[in-house]
Amino acid sequence: MEKLALKLCMTKDIGVHGNLFGGIMLAWLDEAAATFACSVCKNPNMVTVKIDEMIFKRPVKVGDQVNIYGEVKSVGKSSMTMYVEARASNFYTGEEKMVCSTIFIFVRIDHNGDAIPIDESVRQSYAHLPPYE
Ligand SMILES: CC(C)(COP(=O)(O)OP(=O)(O)OC[C@H]1O[C@@H](n2cnc3c(N)ncnc32)[C@H](O)[C@@H]1OP(=O)(O)O)[C@@H](O)C(=O)NCCC(=O)NCCS
Repeated sequence: MEKLALKLCMTKDIGVHGNLFGGIMLAWLDEAAATFACSVCKNPNMVTVKIDEMIFKRPVKVGDQVNIYGEVKSVGKSSMTMYVEARASNFYTGEEKMVCSTIFIFVRIDHNGDAIPIDESVRQSYAHLPPYE
């Protein structure tokens, strides 16, 4: 997996229970994964069409570093499926603990917002990956 982004949990990111607010985490993952999708597809017009189930396995606290990782799982005609995982990282030791993970699907769109094919060269380079179930 590639490291996509590093985040720092700040007081503004905390919900009422003292943990990182789930919607903030979702936004971090969406931004990191969408940027990665655009980079891989060599095109800035990738939109999120689906986010799978996300289970928050561990809380994130103020001052925690969060590392976001991603991996392309499959590339269709106009869509890309990506596994994304967030890990809390200990500043002193670098030890990481998985916080949550999910699957994103992004679609390439044209200027009218309609789905269009991802570049053939990109599709070819991921053609070895089976369709993600
Ligand atoms: C993305 C969007 C253009 C797709 O439109 P659509 O009419 O479903 O397009 P298509 O039927 O041609 O499908 C396009 C691709 O999306 C995939 N797709 C569409 N809906 C999907 C779903 N619910 N789950 C998984 N894949 C889906 C299709 O399988 C297809 O993949 P492929 O070309 O690799 O085979 C449209 O749904 C949209 O504009 N959604 C809003 C996007 C958005 O605003 N996101 C939030 C901000 S980024």
